[in-house]
Amino acid sequence: MGGDIPPPVDELAAVSLTNDEASSTTVQKARFSDRVRIQSILGRPDGGAGLAGQKVRISGWVKTGREQGKGAFAFLEVNDGSCPANLQVMVDASVSDLSKLIATGTCVTVDGCLKLPPEGKGTKQKIELSVVEVVDVGTVDPGTYPIPKTKLTLERLREFLHLRARTNSISAIARIRHALAIATHTFFDEEGFLYVQTPIITTSDCEGAGEMFQVTTLISTTEKLERELIENPPPTEADVEAARVVVKERGEAVAELKAAKASKEAILASVAELNDAKANFAATEARSRLKPGLPKVDGKIDYSQDFFGLQAFLTVSGQLQVETYACGLSDVYTFGPTFRAENSHTSRHLAEFWMVEPELAFADLEDDMNCAEAYVKYMCKWLLEKRYDDMELMAKNFDKGCIDRLKLVASTPFGRLTYTEAIKILEEAVAKGKNFDNAVEWGIDLASEHERYLTEVVFQKPLIVYNYPKGIKAFYMRLNDDGKTVAAMDVLVPKVGELIGGSQREERIDVIMERLEEIGLPVEPYEWYLDLRRYGTAKHSGFGLGFERMVLFATGMDNIRDVIPFPRYPGRADL
Ligand code: 4AD
Ligand code: MG
Repeated sequence: MGGDIPPPVDELAAVSLTNDEASSTTVQKARFSDRVRIQSILGRPDGGAGLAGQKVRISGWVKTGREQGKGAFAFLEVNDGSCPANLQVMVDASVSDLSKLIATGTCVTVDGCLKLPPEGKGTKQKIELSVVEVVDVGTVDPGTYPIPKTKLTLERLREFLHLRARTNSISAIARIRHALAIATHTFFDEEGFLYVQTPIITTSDCEGAGEMFQVTTLISTTEKLERELIENPPPTEADVEAARVVVKERGEAVAELKAAKASKEAILASVAELNDAKANFAATEARSRLKPGLPKVDGKIDYSQDFFGLQAFLTVSGQLQVETYACGLSDVYTFGPTFRAENSHTSRHLAEFWMVEPELAFADLEDDMNCAEAYVKYMCKWLLEKRYDDMELMAKNFDKGCIDRLKLVASTPFGRLTYTEAIKILEEAVAKGKNFDNAVEWGIDLASEHERYLTEVVFQKPLIVYNYPKGIKAFYMRLNDDGKTVAAMDVLVPKVGELIGGSQREERIDVIMERLEEIGLPVEPYEWYLDLRRYGTAKHSGFGLGFERMVLFATGMDNIRDVIPFPRYPGRADL
């Protein structure tokens, strides 16, 4: 290898490269593109130095660009999203018009030669690219580009959801999110769980909290009808009456012809006219009944006319449906979007978020807690192994302690205590002068401030609170022998508070029927769920992990709106 002119791109090395192959001198080409990912250059343990002399084509977006040497050449920092690091790219003025390359946000595809940077400049770069040909440019007008070189606040970036993936922080979070999703599937696959897709549109309310978004076509069909009625007004009573008279006349005409023993043809023709008149009358009458507004029976909206023939919603949890598969396939999980129309403007709530929900057959609450703890630890280890580069970026830009936190969580047993013990600790804190906005007494739903006090101040690590009062928990949770508490558990973590909510499920048909009655829920919609208890009932447990809360916890970001690509919250559903 040698010389300054790179070979044609299709002759570029396409040999696969693992990270341990620091000594390898070949680059890995992206398989479905003719470019080399920047990660496969800079992500090597040698930072790419071993690739000096290689000819590569790279593509990406310019982070910063500056002309130097009085316009003789330009340095571009290029990032293609494959890793947090930028590749330094040097373009000579003899190769290209430099002015169209240097604006932040410009997209470039360039062929060049990898070179060791000049020594002694204290540069971090282990390798840079000297450009031979500029293959493609997507230019940017710096006067109007909304994501300038200078840092925008995360809040301001939310105004540009379509462009924010180009920023260091959002792209690092995207890679971390991806890694957590892969870790999730790998963990459950390794543990013998089956991935089950539960419905997004549902007619069951899992949590019974009345926070569901409705799915309906009634509004749009009503609007369409109302527009149509304005353009083409419905027949009046007089129109209907006129159509009725025509039917009567045609009927009489047929009778007359029959009485006069007219020809068969004449009678048939007259009967055909009568039938037309009847059809016209029926259509006129039906149209005259069309009214603007939603269809109603007895003053209530008539959902039998809706798309599904009954009231439907976006799911708040796939749990009830995934239980049907657990009670047949043993260990299963679902991982999908869930929707809650709670009007909360907090940094921990979204209207659309993703939830991982395993359901374990033949498992009790303790098994459930063990699974939750193992899963969270697994994700922490996975991130440390697979995305250390991005975690370093998060530590540098957002939360110094985030890497140590992952290490701590991966290696330390979670605390475990009952709700009753948790209340006691909080009451003692209050007695010693600690101030909470929400009063503490047995029976309350723990507020975020209580949860965070327990995990951040008292335990300083994740903890699992279990056996909650039945009054604050859902109908499906198993009643404990004390008759007052249910076999529920929440995993609380520093920075976030509640990360996981789960429980052992009530498998006893008589007890669950009593619970439904006690809570005042109708039995009919849950008949299918009760069948799981009527026929071959099984002890089983499960939990739900809020995926964005896990990303928050791992990255140390402050706001949940920045850890999901397209956040939805009251007043906002951009794109
Ligand atoms: O505690 P939750 O409501 O539990 C369930 O939905 C159960 N059906 C889960 C199960 O047992 N299969 O929600 C589970 C988790 C919470 O702990 C929290 O992390 C997250 O989902 N979560 C939210 N995340 C973001 N925005 C919201 N509005 C959330 N509501 C809950
Ligand atoms: Mg909960």
